[in-house]
Amino acid sequence: MGCQILQLIIVTVTLLISASYATEYIRPKPRQLLHFPWSRRSSTEPQQVHISLAGDNHMRISWVTDDSSAPSIVEYGTSPGQYSAKAEGESTSYSYMLYKSGKIHYTVIGPLNPDTAYFYRCGGEGPEFQLKTPPAQLPITFAIAGDLGQTGWTKSTLDHIDLCKYDMHLLPGDLSYANYMQHRWDTFGELVQPLASRRPWMVTEGNHEKENIPLVKEGFQSYNARWKMPFEESGSSSNLYYSFEVAEVHVIMLGSYTDYDEYSEQFRWLKADLGKVDRKRTPWLIALFHVPWYNSNTAHQGEGDEMMSYMEPLLYAAGVDMVLAGHVHAYERSNRVYGGKSDRCGAVHITIGDGGNSEGLARRYQTPHPEWSVFREASFGHGELQIVNSSHAFWSWHRNDDDEPVKSDEVWITSLASSGCLADKAPEFRKILLEP
Ligand SMILES: *[C@@H]1O[C@H](CO)[C@@H](O)[C@H](O)[C@H]1NC(C)=O
Ligand SMILES: [Fe+2]
Repeated sequence: MGCQILQLIIVTVTLLISASYATEYIRPKPRQLLHFPWSRRSSTEPQQVHISLAGDNHMRISWVTDDSSAPSIVEYGTSPGQYSAKAEGESTSYSYMLYKSGKIHYTVIGPLNPDTAYFYRCGGEGPEFQLKTPPAQLPITFAIAGDLGQTGWTKSTLDHIDLCKYDMHLLPGDLSYANYMQHRWDTFGELVQPLASRRPWMVTEGNHEKENIPLVKEGFQSYNARWKMPFEESGSSSNLYYSFEVAEVHVIMLGSYTDYDEYSEQFRWLKADLGKVDRKRTPWLIALFHVPWYNSNTAHQGEGDEMMSYMEPLLYAAGVDMVLAGHVHAYERSNRVYGGKSDRCGAVHITIGDGGNSEGLARRYQTPHPEWSVFREASFGHGELQIVNSSHAFWSWHRNDDDEPVKSDEVWITSLASSGCLADKAPEFRKILLEP
């Protein structure tokens, strides 16, 4: 009898221990770089196809060919194999030390119908690609992952994004982790093509895009040549910051690695851009940039402070709903926050710099956690932002747990437009806009 009780106790204790183990999350290690059999192919075959919005109802198609005589044309239509329209674009190329890029083609197609599948072919030959344009009205879903790189974890993140139904990919910086090895921009282009040729990828730059060499190379040469964003379409003079509107959302892509003080071109552009936002047309206003302003990880602590000191008052006065950043290789979500404190009329800040780079995760956090920090975890994964209507959005973070997408954090966010905050801010915002 005593023996049976002892056995029962042992079994119970064992079950309790294994249950607590089952819930404890074992953080994954960084994964190896993917190795691509990188070879030059048939010289006119399109490679590294990706698409991005280019003004209202237009899409910019980009691809690379080895042959510099390949034409920059895109044929497209709404049925497979039947191309009712054709557009001619432009091209560029660059040299970087001993490396010479292929011909980088850019062709803008449109006007396109919203929420419609199009079939297209680049350069008059090669395989057919398919894209879907974003909807003109809400709802819309964004997939978001920064600091991608090209490792086994990148592949896992991309596979999980591929399983979800979304309209557009937003990337807050650090794309290829080429780290000066230019052919790794090509392998990155190939890695993301299956996704980036189907849904628009809207990106902004991180530190790994810079690749400058003092006195020899200016920064962002490869990035600007390969990932041209609609900056001209949004009145910006630099590919390093721009904005666009999609389905009742105004999205601002800022540059953490270009001047941002009050006398800078970027600051002036931002002010003008915010002045054009009409919350009746776009009730949601979100911003992305690389270096987070609200970060309680010990990695990159305080790096965003200077940019924040110039730009946060402006974003606050304009009533930005959400800010998405990368750089820190971990996930963190804040309350609505302003000036370092929770504030019901501030923005929700989310760090999502955990797409899969080779540097590994940032595991150390400040303790105790700051009052504004709601959720933080060092794991690879991606976010999904489903903007349902003018007042409600659903945010979820999907962790790559042993190759399964696990929804680890989720929250409903209500817009500032529906909260009364915008009306309270209006006088202050008007004053800021009128300042010289
Ligand atoms: C917006 O969506 C939320 C969540 O589904 C819902 O509760 C709310 O009633 C919707 N509002 C309007 C105006 O449709
Ligand atoms: Fe970074």
